[in-house]
Amino acid sequence: MITPELMRAILDQYPLSLHGTHGISHWARVLENGQRLASITGANLMVVELFAVFHDSQRRNEHLDPGHGRRGAELAASLRSSYYELGDEDFALLYTACEHHTDGLINADITVQTCWDSDRLDLGRVWISPSPERMCTRAAKTEEIIEWANQRSTKNTLPDWVATEWGIRL
Ligand SMILES: [Fe+2]
Ligand SMILES: [Fe+2]
Repeated sequence: MITPELMRAILDQYPLSLHGTHGISHWARVLENGQRLASITGANLMVVELFAVFHDSQRRNEHLDPGHGRRGAELAASLRSSYYELGDEDFALLYTACEHHTDGLINADITVQTCWDSDRLDLGRVWISPSPERMCTRAAKTEEIIEWANQRSTKNTLPDWVATEWGIRL
């Protein structure tokens, strides 16, 4: 469960615009992509949700930003136990998923694969069509899911629950 307190702690350290291409609406869609994929892949839902809010949280620019995945993973480490709880094994998955999310890898634990796919499904916002060959999981390669995610991404859809559940009004 992502609490408003966790979101505030993350955003206190987020240097970019919340409206940017790697900002809040991206995080929220990645979370919903991950929830949908996890219901099929059996990925750990808590890890998938935490990945959504940490993986781009330490970007310093909206372009190529080497190392932002590892910095996001380190932020996740620093807020663990104070703002959310996660066991050691699951935290290792979260760390790996954040650290390597831009490396183009395909093979990993199913939870890590689900995290990466949830991010790759949201490429439409920067006018890149998500490609089934770049996806890790069978679920994310399906036309139905790619189309669903891509439509939301190109429209920059912002889910209503961002205001009520994360306490963020854009
Ligand atoms: Fe990223
Ligand atoms: Fe991302």
